[in-house]
Amino acid sequence: MPKPKIKLPEPSFETCLLKIISERKSHRKYRKEPLALNELSTVLWSSYGCIDEDCRRRTVPSAGATYPMEIFVFVRENGVIGLEPGIYYYDPLTHSIILIRSGDQNRKLYYACLNQKWVLEAPINIVITAVYERTTSWYGRRGFRYIYMEAGHIGQNIYLAATNLGLGTVAVGAFNDEQIKTIIGLNNKYLVLYVFPIGKI
Ligand SMILES: Cc1cc2nc3c(=O)[nH]c(=O)nc-3n(C[C@H](O)[C@H](O)[C@H](O)COP(=O)(O)O)c2cc1C
Repeated sequence: MPKPKIKLPEPSFETCLLKIISERKSHRKYRKEPLALNELSTVLWSSYGCIDEDCRRRTVPSAGATYPMEIFVFVRENGVIGLEPGIYYYDPLTHSIILIRSGDQNRKLYYACLNQKWVLEAPINIVITAVYERTTSWYGRRGFRYIYMEAGHIGQNIYLAATNLGLGTVAVGAFNDEQIKTIIGLNNKYLVLYVFPIGKI
């Protein structure tokens, strides 16, 4: 006899987290409005930020606490109030960003992402990369699997943080890895894992 399905009760939406989870969806059209710096800050912190002072805990889990990820932000002309256009590196330890390449690089990123126009139009794009040896030196080939899993945790946090702020995003996995590495200036120690265009909806 097959066992009967057990219908679960409705989840409680009293906590706002569950409401945000229920509202998460991909957005590919953004208003032509810049983001505020605190919006960028919130999304970046949610992606890979530190929870405690000495950064022993992050907003996402990491296999063996190896934390292989390096996060970059492409800021368009007028993409974020008060920021010049360019590519920034996010430093979780100091919760700061560092300009590594000046000028609006969104069009190059758009070409590298197979002409997905939400990449071109978004005021910012977050690019998640990994220095894979930090994890594979411990776990061998299985470390690659762990890196992809960790990218998923980060991606979901970006979706939820964006939703909470009334911003839209979409996970972009279709891109030319080598082209993105060239645009940012990354060597072969890096894997490019995900791109997240983000804008007001
Ligand atoms: C690994 C992965 C790769 C994806 N790549 C792309 C992409 O390159 N371009 C795109 O527009 N959407 C991409 N998506 C978004 C999916 O199309 C989207 O999540 C799906 O249609 C479900 O819609 P929802 O996110 O609104 O629930 C990707 C999603 C995942 C998880």
